[in-house]
Amino acid sequence: PYVITEACINVKDKSCVDVCPVDCIYEGPEQLFIHPDECIDCGACEPECPVTAIFPDEDVPAQLRDYVRKNREVFQSD
Ligand code: SF4
Ligand code: F3S
Repeated sequence: PYVITEACINVKDKSCVDVCPVDCIYEGPEQLFIHPDECIDCGACEPECPVTAIFPDEDVPAQLRDYVRKNREVFQSD
């Protein structure tokens, strides 16, 4: 799945939400998160983010790897 990383914090532009065909991008208190089991890997959200917060999970830069876990943990009560 795609994941949303640190650059989204306190920016929350939400351009990504408008283009996601399966509505799997959800708002948290500080940033938005992508539900890893609902994302269909279409890639539509990635170029829409003005702060480049979105990456495919396999391409997340090393210093942002923790966000792969964070995007999943948010939805663990589902
Ligand atoms: Fe939604 Fe596609 Fe982005 Fe996944 S890759 S969050 S399905 S827009
Ligand atoms: Fe955040 Fe970028 Fe979406 S700032 S809300 S990931 S468009």
